Amino acid sequence: MGIVYHELSKTFHLYNEEISYLMIVLANGQLGQLYFGKRIHDREDFSDLLEIAPRAMAACPTLGDKTFSLEHIKLELPSYGTGDYRSPAVEIRQGNGSRLSDFQYQGHRIQAGKPGLLGLPATYVEAEQEAETLVVELKDAVTGILAEMSYTVFAQGGAVARSIRYVNEGSEPVYLERAMSLCLDLPDCEYEWLQLSGAWARERHVITRRLAMGVQSIGSLRGNSSHQHNPFLALKRPSATEQLGEVIGFSFIYSGNFLIQAEVDAHDSARVLVGLHPDTFSWKLGTGESFQTPEAVMAYSCQGLNGMSQTFHRLYQKRLARGYWRDRPRPILINNWEATFFDFTEEKLLQIAQKAKECGVEMFVLDDGWFGGRRHECAGLGDWVANEGVLPHGIAGLAERIEEMGMKFGLWFEPEMVNLDSDLYRSHPDWILETPERGRSHGRNQYVLDFSRLEVVDAIYGMMAKILREAKVSYIKWDMNRSITECYSQALPPERQGEVFHRYILGVYELYRRLTEEFPHVLFESCASGGGRFDPGMLYYAPQAWTSDDTDAVERMKIQYGTSMCYPISSIGSHVSVSPNHQVDRQTPLHTRANVAYFGTFGYELDLNKLSQEEIAEVKEQVSFMKEYRSLLQYGTFYRLKSPFEGNEMCWMAVSQDKKTAIVGWYRILNQVNARFTRIQLAGLAEDFCYENSQDGSKHYGDELMGFGLITSDVTAGEIPPGVAHSCDFESRIYVLKAVEE
Ligand code: DGJ
Repeated sequence: MGIVYHELSKTFHLYNEEISYLMIVLANGQLGQLYFGKRIHDREDFSDLLEIAPRAMAACPTLGDKTFSLEHIKLELPSYGTGDYRSPAVEIRQGNGSRLSDFQYQGHRIQAGKPGLLGLPATYVEAEQEAETLVVELKDAVTGILAEMSYTVFAQGGAVARSIRYVNEGSEPVYLERAMSLCLDLPDCEYEWLQLSGAWARERHVITRRLAMGVQSIGSLRGNSSHQHNPFLALKRPSATEQLGEVIGFSFIYSGNFLIQAEVDAHDSARVLVGLHPDTFSWKLGTGESFQTPEAVMAYSCQGLNGMSQTFHRLYQKRLARGYWRDRPRPILINNWEATFFDFTEEKLLQIAQKAKECGVEMFVLDDGWFGGRRHECAGLGDWVANEGVLPHGIAGLAERIEEMGMKFGLWFEPEMVNLDSDLYRSHPDWILETPERGRSHGRNQYVLDFSRLEVVDAIYGMMAKILREAKVSYIKWDMNRSITECYSQALPPERQGEVFHRYILGVYELYRRLTEEFPHVLFESCASGGGRFDPGMLYYAPQAWTSDDTDAVERMKIQYGTSMCYPISSIGSHVSVSPNHQVDRQTPLHTRANVAYFGTFGYELDLNKLSQEEIAEVKEQVSFMKEYRSLLQYGTFYRLKSPFEGNEMCWMAVSQDKKTAIVGWYRILNQVNARFTRIQLAGLAEDFCYENSQDGSKHYGDELMGFGLITSDVTAGEIPPGVAHSCDFESRIYVLKAVEE
């Protein structure tokens, strides 16, 4: 790993064993981009890689030179209005109304390690030798705005982390109207665009299409990163597969409004922009003030989508997630939400916990409905005090009883929200986000607290911390069940209203910071009506996230498959729930529900008292299986093998670091008869190891399992005699492969 600056050619080369990233100071002083891709040899002078040509109708900054036009050059910090007609990465509005800027090279510094970003989540290092950071200083002479462009290359993995800090060194205030975190101008557009999109109960489905001329984008204007679009994009070569070929992934470490777009121009170059959504952003930058953009990460892989995902998994699992739980196998929990909804008593909760304890479950989580007047959706949010009518011994008393059973206790909060029917709203009606003289929209009968105000964050922190100090709470589920509307803060002046969306998210991060610092052993799970805020920003504070409110095993295959494109398995909250399923009313076998949930944090979301003796026996086996293999499943190397978006079967696997154990999850949606023979080529095994298959005791070498494949054909390959018990719809199997002596 290293960062080199070649003085004579004014080129920067950031590299490690996998990637190279090249930039150059251009003739006009701006910073240009030359290459991002597979590692290449270093040279003194890469300026011959600069592609320029005289092109008709081009606007050129230098009289007499028709070849140098900003429209046709790859730029690091492009702005609009001086010849580059593509979407810009920055826009600064001056007091006189001008929106132009011209950021020119001033200097740079290279430092070991990686500095943190004040108030924002970001990747980090634990030792200086893990990464190197280049900060290039660019300045716009007219406004005096300095842009500190930060690039970190890590010793391991094909990722570069990027962000920009703007400092107003001028004499007048300006408005940052656009402050994207990353601009990457790709020399061609021969890519497929892969996004993770959907809606509530079908988050992060994999959607692909060919990159085409014009602008294509995803984003959120909802205040949360959203169910609809995840802040992630992969550009893959059309020939690239899960295992092979070139892929570039882009991920934004942020939990609010974002924009990710690619613009293919008339000469087939593709500009990728990642950052805060400019439609809902404007930031007043007074003299001497600075603004830090959130961080964006780009990752190059020549080993297909799995290669890209593994880079994100390692980086986000080990150097974005933090704290006590980062490296620890996650507790198997039972959550009462789908078992009871709001209809519970202390007695009923204890019964659910007791049965779970008998099955080996390690933690009981009390979901919504325990506080204030919260017996339904219309009251109580904001009053984080136990309802003693329901819980006569309070949270401390209930937690104590759960601990006495030998389990840990977890608790649900929705800190950012308030119901009108609450003491909090009655005392502070001005604490919600709403625009003067306009109506206000509710979502699930609730309103959004103005987290851009520190006194609001203080008040919620006070209530939550009191409970955590008094009761033995080991886990918090932090929910967020509506998006933001009528976004306006009564505490900010008119010219700062464009800051509210971002200040809100900074307030959320601040509350997370305080709680995680004061209660470092509490495991946080983020949630937003399921997976409405499953993003890297949240992962910095909460190492796991509730993936979706849809707990149906078949739906979950797609949701978890898509989620794994960017996010590690240890972050994917997944539970076994009741059948027929609450969301889709589908009946699936208990083993398939578990076989899907194993590839995540694992737990139960039902009343185990309602299961038969046989089912309880199965649950006990599931829990002990998960205890034995969760380290491998959650922290091993994960491979997607067969996509549920493409056929009737789905397959994925996890391999241990030493490659001696692998777990393959195979799933078939609909049953068949007289079907084709099926086998799956595995990945990541040691070619020379001989693996014993837990399903039938057969032994095969790794090269054979990866070459010929693992045979998954079963009775459905032939004619099934009537009355013979055989497989059903939604069948699945877990294969444990262990390296043995031949
Ligand atoms: C939405 C979450 O996704 C559910 O798991 C549950 O916690 C409910 N909110 C409670 O209101």
